[in-house]
Amino acid sequence: MPRTSAPSTPFVRAMATARGGLQRVAFFSFFINLLMLTSSVYMLQVYDRVLASRSESTLIYLTLFAAACLATLGLLEGVRSRLLVRMGARFDAQLSAQVFSETLARGRNGQALRDLDSLRGFLTGTHILSLLDAPWMPIYLGLVYVLHPLLGHVALGGAVLLFALGLWNERRTRRTLAEAGGELSASHQFAEMSSRNADAIRAMGMLPGLTALWRRRHDLGLGLQGLASDRAASVAAVAKATRFLLQVGILGVGAWLVIQEQTTAGVMIAASIVMGRGLAPVEAAIGGWRGFLAARQAHQRLLEGYGQQPADQARMPLPAPTGALSFEGVAGGPPEARKITVRELSFALEPGTCLGITGPSAAGKSTLVRLALGIWRPMAGVVRLDGVNIADWDRQDVGPHIGYLPQDIELFPGTVADNIARFGEVDPGQVVEAAKLAGAHAMVLELPGGYDAEIGPGGVNLSGGQRQRIGLARAFYGRPALIVLDEPTSNLDAEGEAAVRQAMDALREAGRTLIVIAHRPALLGGTDKLMVIQQGRIGAFGDTSELMPQITRRVVAGIAPSQVPVVPAGARHV
Ligand SMILES: Nc1ncnc2c1ncn2[C@@H]1O[C@H](COP(=O)(O)OP(=O)(O)OP(=O)(O)O)[C@@H](O)[C@H]1O
Ligand SMILES: [Mg+2]
Repeated sequence: MPRTSAPSTPFVRAMATARGGLQRVAFFSFFINLLMLTSSVYMLQVYDRVLASRSESTLIYLTLFAAACLATLGLLEGVRSRLLVRMGARFDAQLSAQVFSETLARGRNGQALRDLDSLRGFLTGTHILSLLDAPWMPIYLGLVYVLHPLLGHVALGGAVLLFALGLWNERRTRRTLAEAGGELSASHQFAEMSSRNADAIRAMGMLPGLTALWRRRHDLGLGLQGLASDRAASVAAVAKATRFLLQVGILGVGAWLVIQEQTTAGVMIAASIVMGRGLAPVEAAIGGWRGFLAARQAHQRLLEGYGQQPADQARMPLPAPTGALSFEGVAGGPPEARKITVRELSFALEPGTCLGITGPSAAGKSTLVRLALGIWRPMAGVVRLDGVNIADWDRQDVGPHIGYLPQDIELFPGTVADNIARFGEVDPGQVVEAAKLAGAHAMVLELPGGYDAEIGPGGVNLSGGQRQRIGLARAFYGRPALIVLDEPTSNLDAEGEAAVRQAMDALREAGRTLIVIAHRPALLGGTDKLMVIQQGRIGAFGDTSELMPQITRRVVAGIAPSQVPVVPAGARHV
């Protein structure tokens, strides 16, 4: 058979492995199901042979045989559970790291990790076992037919009835559960996002308003879930009653057949047990339908959203960049909004250049540097680092050659040294050098534990300025070829600002390319080139020595440098 051309994503591969595991489990289920007939066969034999012949030895042998069968059954059940647990662990190992890194790389929330948990829980739970038993139903029903056709009809009728109940259940609950899942996931995200702004919430008494908003979402989700559960529960109750009724029915019909001398009491009871086994998976499926639907939704979301990226393509390793950066007619903006916020960006920076960028709020400065670093892809044009399209660099390869201090600095749970060394292998010499360059060394030594101080939950609480200094040290770590600082001094005192100025000089002398977004002339004065961004375009671009006087003149006149509409002739493209 020709192979299908469907892309083999890590998720699809992991599901295929899980399916293989389930097939092994199903193989064990085959023998388990066979052995589960032990008690009915035993009963049949006891009724029909032992009681009829009153033979004690037959009873003893039969009992020993049944006990051996049941012991094997227990053993096989144990093996089957272990297989399931192993399979779950393997499934998780194959995917969780990938989902986690994709979650981070694409700036998503934790929904996918929760989906993975719920899918794994389902694949290794008890309900999957009853679903795996379902293929056995026809065999059990066939057995009842062998015992007596009339009993077979009763069992078959019962199976059809239970199936119909199962379908009804599916119809009544699927849509409601999907809606509930959506609402609950949204309320989860809302809570995640709000918890990041806890200070503002408390300071300005926003708690009641936000809580009310969250509650509405949460209640809606819970309400829908409750509705679906109610419906599912009523169907499950009907199913249970139906099965009990069927037991009574088959015993009743069996007894009638015994009276008519068409069958024996052993057959009557064995038929009832076999039918019970056969119908159990359907009843279990109805009872566990909610879990199945949730797992199916999680599966669908994971299939659509995750593991789609083929595993990192092996790209040819390129020589380390020297820091030559060029923009060629670049336009772009936030990818999720598909909005172009900067356009017509063309300029080039030689290695060792220090570029200052200024301009009004929301002009597109941070957008420009995100494009420069390949965090966002341009919607037109191309950004090149050492002549190579920035999108073509392997992120793991190019990362150590890039330093970035984002406007909103986030440090991660770990030690100060880990954070500075970007959670790679810590090179103590380089960590200290970077910290000194950032003017953070003395400050770090004052922390309890110094470079080993833990940041984050349970660790030290850092001030805004401390965070910024450590963020700077992280950007300088390893003296990367291209360093971008987005408002590096927004939280710093005069001393910190002087340290950044010194670092700029040192890095420029070392031949590193620097881009510094700033508003203050003190910092902009230390650059070689200056760019003013206005409404997403380059308003001015030229040597700092030429542009700076105009900016400072305006500042003296009481206008912020970012407001300066400087457009010197011929300075647009250099
Ligand atoms: N993640 C985002 N999603 C949607 N829109 C965004 C996003 N980031 C930026 N924008 C929009 O892009 C435009 C440019 O924003 P940008 O952050 O580049 O401005 P900026 O010049 O850095 O401003 P500031 O000086 O305030 O930092 C703004 O209109 C902003 O609303
Ligand atoms: Mg910005």
